[in-house]
Amino acid sequence: MDYKGYIASKIEIDGIDKETISSFIEVPPTNEMGDFALPCFRFSKAMRKSPIEIANLLKDAFTTDDVIKEVNAVNGYLNFKINRGGFSQKLIEEILEKGEDYGKSDIGNGKTICIDYSSINIAKPFHIGHLSTTVIGSALCKIFRFLGYKVVGINHLGDYGTQFGKLIVAFKKWSSIEKVQKGRLTELTSIYVKYHEEAENNPSLDDEARHYFKLIEEGDKEANELFNLFKQITLEEVEKIYKLLNVEFDSYAGESFYNDKMGVVIDELTEKGLLKTSDKAKIVDLEKYDMPPCLILKSDGSSLYATRDMAAAIYRKNTYDFYKCLYVVAYQQNLHFKQFFKVLELMDKPWAKDLEHVAYGMVSLTDGAMSTRSGRVVLLEDVIKKCIEKAQNIIEEKTPDLDGKEEVARKVGTGSVIFGALCNNKIKDIVFSYDKVLNFDGETCPYVQYTVARCNSVLSKGGEIGEFDTNNLNEDEYALVSVLGRFKEVVLDAGEKREPSFITRYALELASVFNKFYFNCKIMGSEEKVKNLRLSLTKAVQTVLTNAFTLLGIEIPEKM
Ligand code: ARG
Repeated sequence: MDYKGYIASKIEIDGIDKETISSFIEVPPTNEMGDFALPCFRFSKAMRKSPIEIANLLKDAFTTDDVIKEVNAVNGYLNFKINRGGFSQKLIEEILEKGEDYGKSDIGNGKTICIDYSSINIAKPFHIGHLSTTVIGSALCKIFRFLGYKVVGINHLGDYGTQFGKLIVAFKKWSSIEKVQKGRLTELTSIYVKYHEEAENNPSLDDEARHYFKLIEEGDKEANELFNLFKQITLEEVEKIYKLLNVEFDSYAGESFYNDKMGVVIDELTEKGLLKTSDKAKIVDLEKYDMPPCLILKSDGSSLYATRDMAAAIYRKNTYDFYKCLYVVAYQQNLHFKQFFKVLELMDKPWAKDLEHVAYGMVSLTDGAMSTRSGRVVLLEDVIKKCIEKAQNIIEEKTPDLDGKEEVARKVGTGSVIFGALCNNKIKDIVFSYDKVLNFDGETCPYVQYTVARCNSVLSKGGEIGEFDTNNLNEDEYALVSVLGRFKEVVLDAGEKREPSFITRYALELASVFNKFYFNCKIMGSEEKVKNLRLSLTKAVQTVLTNAFTLLGIEIPEKM
């Protein structure tokens, strides 16, 4: 039942439609205040009255019925109490019936969202700095699909630039196909480091590198074979990590994919009189918008990161006709996105307003010993492995007889890494701590996973669930219903604000309210209808927590 819509249908305000009224209705943080609330300051302007006066007026005009039992005006809010029995019955039935589809919506039907995320750089290590973009982007893909959107997940590979010329030089001097096949990404990064050490004393290496880079661009066979080998090795390595993290992409069209798609951008910029020459380079002046100029072509005629992003945006619009195109990229690149979005707007692309930079904060590690390995970056794979290992130790200690301990450790360990990156507002910097993310009693992944395992164990003892009655719910039972009833809204909100952490926080809240219920309310051995009610609540919690975690890309062990 759409309670908000129903409440709105019973409220008349001149000049404000029902949908708007419905969108203002909130679920109050505690149940004592009521089940739904309408903040009346929203109407102050339209009604030219204070929120308190408005609340009183609306209360007097409102007629209660068997759906909405009670209405109160409190401090400029209109608080509604619904018929809890009816609400609870319908909600629990809906959750049990829909199962893994519970919470889905069709609001995105017919709309496509492109999500550019992870977007790793070829032949560079996949390090802890890529964690947030990868898991935030992946969660957003899953959330928007759940909401009915068509989603195109794009890994905008960093596969263009003089560094690939350098890599070929380094490869020819110090490596071989065999060595690369064997040492993989580590070999590639180490010869790249060696190149930089050598080039300091031998600048002619850079001339060679430029030469090879040019060969790649010109389509030279050997140069491209090597470049493709580097790319393939990198992708194979990161694929393993993507698999662990349940991350998938629909497109790997990276920067080099746009090599032949920039000419039109340059032509159009020229035609529209936007391109200026500055020190032989081509730029778009953005002084009017308080930004430094956007560099389009270097003095040697080669393109830049922004040029490729513009070509990519145009390509995506033409190919997918997106409703929104999101870029999940660290806040360090704020200016870059503001600049090229602005240039596209100046080019009169009406869809430039649909491009959106989803910025997030930095991740660092508390564990000093791990944070730099002889000056090298912390590999994401090492973090995940270490987390799995630590999870394994904890499980070994707590439940040495558990079946399938390794699988459980994998799910707890990788889940904790994902959860650790998704549990706070995305713009906040994160200090990652193994002990914190693996604390079974904290606001953590294993805490939620453990709660689901608890539900599973209750359900397997409880057997088939018979008829239940929701007319006399106690406080703990209703608290659970009311949190369960918020799931749909939370998912919508998470999508709208591009904030998977709303789902993480919600899962923690639901788990904690369930655990309170579990300790206060006896399930087995209760009177039949009460037992059935409590079992069905348990099943509903298991379903909703599972759906929430699926959206985050986290698996849940059957038993813990
Ligand atoms: N590869 C880039 C980096 O590591 C991120 C690319 C983000 N996506 C984009 N369309 N610019 O910094």
